[in-house]
Amino acid sequence: MNKLEELQQLSKEAEICNKCPLWKLRTNVVFGEGNADTKLMFIGEAPGYHEDQQGKPFVGAAGKLLTELIDSLGFKREEVYITNVLKCRPPDNRDPLPEEVSACSYFLKKQIEIIDPKILCALGRNAAFSLLNHSVNMSTSHGKVYQLDGRLMFVTYHPAAALYHGKLLENIKKDFLELKKVYETKLLEDEKENLDKKEQEQLSFW
Ligand code: URA
Repeated sequence: MNKLEELQQLSKEAEICNKCPLWKLRTNVVFGEGNADTKLMFIGEAPGYHEDQQGKPFVGAAGKLLTELIDSLGFKREEVYITNVLKCRPPDNRDPLPEEVSACSYFLKKQIEIIDPKILCALGRNAAFSLLNHSVNMSTSHGKVYQLDGRLMFVTYHPAAALYHGKLLENIKKDFLELKKVYETKLLEDEKENLDKKEQEQLSFW
């Protein structure tokens, strides 16, 4: 099975998931979408009204901003992967409950394993908290890179928060400039590592 087929199979599992009570309220499961071969994965908190209606992540106003920010990295939205910690919408867009996060973590963990991105970008405090397993202070953590199971995890504000606070919009735009640098540096490092490995292999051959 290739990555796309593995994701499709996992998404079928999510469609019939009833591990937490949110399944009773959903119109659609919002599994995630994008390029299964990407090196960059964006992780939001949970679907909102529009996402629940359409079954796609980040399609409302916050999604429009996220798409623009992804454009600013030089990518089209469909070239990266976008998902959320929760795959079902919490009522009135309230924060995810710990038991919902732990019930849903199976899907996010598998998505990360299958796609195997180099960099995860946590969008907002709740996504960062769920991934890192400890709370983060956004005013000091935004724009920073953490290590997570051998990958880089970049933390920035949730686009919805940035829509309501001009200062955060400025910050999130700056964070994306930083994310571009982090991405390019990581790519160069990996390229160098691969070249070094090949060189070592050739040397041992001779
Ligand atoms: N907010 C999120 O965290 N995720 C979405 O998909 C939409 C809004």
